[in-house]
Amino acid sequence: MTDNPIFAVAARAEALRAQGADVITLAAGEPQAATSAVVVEAAVAAVRDPATHHYGTAQGDPDLRALVATVVAADTGLSWTAADVQIGLGAKHALFLATQALIDAGDEVLVAAPGWPGHAEVVVAAGGIPVPVATDEEFRFSVEALDRCRTPRTRALILSSPGNPTGAVHSESRLRQIADWADQHGIWVISDDIYRAFDYTGTYRSILRVAPQLRDRTVVVGGVSKEHAMTGWRVGWLAASPEVVASARLHVSRTITHVPTVNQRAAHAALGDTGTPAEAARDYQRRRALLVDALNGIDGIDCPLPDGGMFAFPDVSRLLRDRGWADSADLAAWLLDTVHLAVVPGEAFNAPGRIRVCFAVDDDTLITAVERLHTALGPAAHEPAAPQLEEAR
Ligand SMILES: Cc1ncc(COP(=O)(O)O)c(C=O)c1O
Repeated sequence: MTDNPIFAVAARAEALRAQGADVITLAAGEPQAATSAVVVEAAVAAVRDPATHHYGTAQGDPDLRALVATVVAADTGLSWTAADVQIGLGAKHALFLATQALIDAGDEVLVAAPGWPGHAEVVVAAGGIPVPVATDEEFRFSVEALDRCRTPRTRALILSSPGNPTGAVHSESRLRQIADWADQHGIWVISDDIYRAFDYTGTYRSILRVAPQLRDRTVVVGGVSKEHAMTGWRVGWLAASPEVVASARLHVSRTITHVPTVNQRAAHAALGDTGTPAEAARDYQRRRALLVDALNGIDGIDCPLPDGGMFAFPDVSRLLRDRGWADSADLAAWLLDTVHLAVVPGEAFNAPGRIRVCFAVDDDTLITAVERLHTALGPAAHEPAAPQLEEAR
């Protein structure tokens, strides 16, 4: 398996920037905003506290775990305590800890296609085999598709709702069907709830909220990266049964010892701030509309309105055909080289013929990006010839 293709786009954008190009990136899988002052100040105070200068516990700071337990309890409607939580280096690490706890070499784990490549990556890193399951026309798992991919080696399903790159939010009834199916076949559910705050439909439910009977076979994963613009701080968690938490704790103890204490204190401050994610969600909802409208204004692009998350995920297959690009990667490379706009080709998510465009950027950035898109691809540009950057402003 190659490295995450999203990083390749970021590296090319960085190289252009180093040459002096004014690159705008809508390729990142992270909010452009800085972390809030509340969190930064808490981290500064934590750095000054000698207690953070020494080893902490492998499972994670008990105060942070207690606070995470309240978040997971609020989402699931079930009771959780600090003992049920393991802190990891971001949600991706928590996902890895979950897979390494659950799977033996050769076990199969069902992941969404289209879907975030990190899900397959953590399965491979834990010695398992990721099995892509084609989602339905609204990018949701269907029980029929899941069952077609089920084998005697199927150990778990990774479900992310809202998802990346699709933004799909699974309805309550769909979650119930998936839960019944998982229950019937003894399949674990890893519920990646990292985008829980970015639901624009008001229908987001954690799977345990609708199927509490799955509690002993579900791992809930979350983190502060997206909700609090803290991707660089690397704090995430899992909440699960004692056996899974014990395995995760042992792995952390044997490898990284624990997540840096200063960062855990910062995450603690973040969880006390519900205003920042709510405000971000309001901003993203507005920017989602702006971007989706702009994309749909380009002949050959068909962009569904995502239910949640931070990305538009338009179908560009007609544009590729009409303008003679071989694939989305070709289009993404052309956009980057000619109008210095970075987006991620759908191939990165098992979705050729689409691109992922992030709207978790500030208004000015998004407006400039949309202008560049229209200059490059709008009705006026009939040829895929490189427009001048001055025009693209
Ligand atoms: C669905 C999903 N889960 C997890 C992560 C990773 O989050 P973190 O930065 O906390 O590791 C991402 C990041 O893009 C994601 O899209």
